[in-house]
Amino acid sequence: MNLPAAALPSRHPARSALRMLAAACLAAASMPAAGQSAAATSPPVPLDVPYVPTPQEVVDKMLDVAAVKAGDVVYDLGCGDGRIVVTAARDRGARGVGIDLNPQRIAEATANAQSAGVADKVKFRVGDLYKADVSQATVVTLYLLPEVNRKLRPQLWKQLKVGTRVVSHAFDMGNAWPPERVERVGGRDIYYWTIRPEHKSTGQ
Ligand SMILES: C[S@@+](CC[C@H](N)C(=O)[O-])C[C@H]1O[C@@H](n2cnc3c(N)ncnc32)[C@H](O)[C@@H]1O
Repeated sequence: MNLPAAALPSRHPARSALRMLAAACLAAASMPAAGQSAAATSPPVPLDVPYVPTPQEVVDKMLDVAAVKAGDVVYDLGCGDGRIVVTAARDRGARGVGIDLNPQRIAEATANAQSAGVADKVKFRVGDLYKADVSQATVVTLYLLPEVNRKLRPQLWKQLKVGTRVVSHAFDMGNAWPPERVERVGGRDIYYWTIRPEHKSTGQ
């Protein structure tokens, strides 16, 4: 995985997010504990992004920035333990879908939805975010990596309806899609975009 932290200014907030993700990569690559096989501790396929959960105060701010409310359908691509989608359903009355390549994360997300009493409002499924159909979303949330966001951008422009809101924890979409808003909470940046008619006409 390419982690271009050195390309960022030393005090850039994305640096700390990249450091955390890099640490998670190293932990994931470390030897399994005695008695465990590598197969038991590794996801079944290589992940494009390691698992690092978004802190709850950042989750809440992401949902604020996107103005999530009842009637919204929130998709989290690389949903981890489902906290963004579960919070959107529990606190805002939204419906949601979480997609993650790691079945262990999907099992955790499903259990969390049940504990929070929102199992009827959310769905979690194992899948590759690059192959996901997100056309039913009114809000898409992301906590991925810079190069993953950039690769995902054409898919979002192609599939999402005009007016759909996109929020990303820590990472932007590069020069091709400058954010409309950037908010900061707990030392983290949150980037916000909406799908506009011109995105549908360019297709790229
Ligand atoms: C940084 S974590 C973010 C988790 C959650 N969205 C949050 O903010 O708490 C990234 C997640 O993406 C998942 N992931 C990595 N590559 C993926 C892929 N190609 N398709 C779907 N999920 C992926 C990982 O398993 C991990 O749970």
